[in-house]
Amino acid sequence: MNWTTIRKTPELSEPAPNPADATPFSWEAARAELEGLPGGGLNIAHEAVDRQVRAGHGEMIALRWLGKNGERREFSYAELARSSNRFANGLNRLGIQRGDRICVLAGRIPELYIAALGTLKIGAVFCPLFSAFGPEPVRVRLAKSRARVLVTTALLHERKVRAQRAALPDLEHVLLTDGDGAEPGVCSFHALLETESNQFAIPFTAPEDWALLHFTSGTTGSPKGAIHVHDAVVAHRMTGRRVLDLRPGDIYWCTADPGWVTGVSYGIIAPLTNGATLVVDEAEFDASRWYAILERERVNVWYTAPTAIRMLMKAGAGLARNRDLSALRFAASVGEPLHPEGVVWGLEALGQPFHDTWWQTETGAIMIANTPTQDIRPGSMGRPLPGIEAAIVRRRTEGGVDLLEPGAEGELALRAGWPSLFRGYLDDEERYRQCFVAGWYLTGDLATRDADGYYWFLGRADDVIKTAGHLIGPFEIESVLLEHPAVAEAGMIGKPDDFAGQIIKAFVALKPGHAPSDALRKELIGFARTRLGPAVAPRELEFVADLPKTRSGKIMRRLLRARELGLPLGDLSALENNAPGKTPEN
Ligand code: WT7
Repeated sequence: MNWTTIRKTPELSEPAPNPADATPFSWEAARAELEGLPGGGLNIAHEAVDRQVRAGHGEMIALRWLGKNGERREFSYAELARSSNRFANGLNRLGIQRGDRICVLAGRIPELYIAALGTLKIGAVFCPLFSAFGPEPVRVRLAKSRARVLVTTALLHERKVRAQRAALPDLEHVLLTDGDGAEPGVCSFHALLETESNQFAIPFTAPEDWALLHFTSGTTGSPKGAIHVHDAVVAHRMTGRRVLDLRPGDIYWCTADPGWVTGVSYGIIAPLTNGATLVVDEAEFDASRWYAILERERVNVWYTAPTAIRMLMKAGAGLARNRDLSALRFAASVGEPLHPEGVVWGLEALGQPFHDTWWQTETGAIMIANTPTQDIRPGSMGRPLPGIEAAIVRRRTEGGVDLLEPGAEGELALRAGWPSLFRGYLDDEERYRQCFVAGWYLTGDLATRDADGYYWFLGRADDVIKTAGHLIGPFEIESVLLEHPAVAEAGMIGKPDDFAGQIIKAFVALKPGHAPSDALRKELIGFARTRLGPAVAPRELEFVADLPKTRSGKIMRRLLRARELGLPLGDLSALENNAPGKTPEN
């Protein structure tokens, strides 16, 4: 089907187009909209809460928390400032220094937001861990970050951390949000806060001081810790304003979990620095519940993801029809390709089209988007934002890149230099360096640009898997499966799925003496689920005699995928064991 442009007629861009869009853009001007700290300092938490309180907005609601059992709690900007001050004082008392890493392993609970802001206030580094990760991904990230403090719940601690504590020598303090940890090195988050003062003066933090650590996955090796600095807030605030159309007093709902970058950049920082009220829903996706939240909370701006949009579409527009969604002014999507049907469905079912936006953990903030004032091309990610120079490039074998013309397919590249660009992968200078060629940051995404400057996503250039919007590295899963005594080799691919975009499919070759069976398949999937958590474990598993590998022993996941999908196998010259493995079951 050929979807035409959705024009921003006056009816569509209610209220009138965002005036910020019309002013000439410079990062200096965007930076000047922030308050900063005396002496040229900058602190994300200051811009997010303390500044709002000082400007007289202390009584405005910063966080409206909807518990999964129907509870409802509101935190004003003043209350969030006080609680995060208490946490900052508590961290100081524990001897936490600037640059130390504070991890939070929790679902969407208020303590997560307090901990994030308090951490930033003392100049420590906030590192969220997705609560659906199993013990193995949690251990790897805690170890790599060398976290000194972990904020978590009693249940998550018991299930995912406690038994591994001996392997985490840097982890001095576990703070339980709902328990009083009667063991050494474990104490109560709230008991710590209770004894602290509401007052805290943010010490000088420089714009280039580390602020956030987000783990992300590549094709090879363990997860990479992308480092962001306080200066990133310039991009968070600007994009919150220009892309998500956030205005002071807006009710804003970002459905992303703060265990991932979207839930921090756009679930905490962008909305608070723009003076909005965050709606945080603790519960998991449920179509009726979501419509009820949009209606009852009178959500003005909504940021969600294609997997959720597809599930809402499946549940039927009928569920939306008897809801009053008139408060909704802007809807946007991120994380995976948003199919044109989804864009248009938003317009029909919610009264607002979904605006696709594109960015990555490494870019820290939205780079390419269908903005409030521009016509939408359904199926396109939109155009580069002001201050962002994008290109479609081809890497030259001898180094450097060629910039390609409109219509050509190539790798999406961004000219390095915007404030929220990551400043490194923790302890991995080499991998960081490899992301840049001739002043361009290479994204690893394949895309094309049309003659009007709209970018269209084609796929990943590498083997990482996007499942339900979560970026998963195949290596992390393969490593865990290899620990099972029956497994000789394992390779993961993303297999297209109508809802999750992709699901994880495992190919496994067994060691001599083990035979494929349904029971063993279930056992291996169960093994992976226990170790990795349900979000990361493979959903499907197929036994093969052996896995296609390069001469240097790398698993050719591209070939596994091509075979699975019946695609042309492409260049096989690198293949070591040239007889493609057959499943022993056939
Ligand atoms: C990868 C980044 C998006 C920020 C949070 C996730 C894919 C992202 C889109 C989009 C098609 C998209 C890309 C990208 N992606 N947005 N609008 N259309 N694909 O960040 O986990 O680092 O994932 O998500 O492949 O490289 P992330």
